[in-house]
Amino acid sequence: MVSANVWLRQRDIVNQRYNLPFPRSSLTRGFMRIFVCGLLVGVFGILVVPAVVLWFGYIPIVATSDPSRWETLIGRRALASAVARQAPKLENPMPPTSDNLRLGLEAYRDGCSGCHGDAANSSRWGTSGFYPRVPQFDVEPPVKPEWQLFWIVKHGVRYTGMGAWETLTPDENIWRVVGFLSHLHNLPAEVDAEWRHASR
Ligand code: HEC
Repeated sequence: MVSANVWLRQRDIVNQRYNLPFPRSSLTRGFMRIFVCGLLVGVFGILVVPAVVLWFGYIPIVATSDPSRWETLIGRRALASAVARQAPKLENPMPPTSDNLRLGLEAYRDGCSGCHGDAANSSRWGTSGFYPRVPQFDVEPPVKPEWQLFWIVKHGVRYTGMGAWETLTPDENIWRVVGFLSHLHNLPAEVDAEWRHASR
C-alpha cells in the first residue's frame, strides 16, 4: 500500500499544480480501465474470432443456400465501385449493326446463357447453384455502360462463378456480346425475333 499512498500524494500535487477542478479520482481510472478492456475485446473480436471461424471450418461454404440481402447488396456495391474506378473508358469498336448484334447473340448462346438464361428460360443452374446468384439478363438486363461490361466479361469477377473470357475469345467477340447485352430490349426486329424464338 506504500506505493498506492505515494501515488495518491503525487496525484494531489498534480491537482494542486494544475488547479484541476476535481481530483483525478478513481472515476477517471475506472473509465480508463473500461476503455482499455473494451479496446482489447474489440481487437480480439475483429481479428481472432473470424480467424478461428475460418480456420476451423465453421464458415458456410455451399453455393445452394440463398444469399442474404446484405451480402448481395455489399457484393453488388463492391463490384459496381471497383469497375467504375478500375475499368478504362473504352468505346465499343463494334458498331451495333444487325450483323454484330446477331454474332453477339450467338456468342451469348454459346458461352453465357447456360448461366445467365435466355429469353425463353431462366437458367436453373444460374438461379439456384451459384453464390452469388447469376443475374438473369432477360429479366434483369445489365444497366452498366458497355466499357464496364466489357471489363467484367474480359477479366471476370473474383469469388463468384463469373470467369474471365480474355483467353477464350478475342476482344471483338466480347465487344459484340456486350453490344448485344446493352441492346437487349431494343434489338432490331429480326435479331429480337431470333432471341425470342430460339431457346436452349
Ligand atoms: C458459370 C456461370 C457463368 C457464365 C458461363 C457466365 N457468367 Fe456472367 N456472371 C456469373 C455470375 C455468378 C455473375 C455475378 C457476379 C457478381 O454478382 O458479382 C456474373 C456477372 C456477369 C456480369 C455483371 C452483371 C452486372 O450487371 O453487374 C456480366 C456483364 C456478365 N456476367 C456477362 C457474362 C457474359 C457476356 C458471359 C458469356 C461470355 C458470361 N457472363 C458467362 C456467372 C457466369
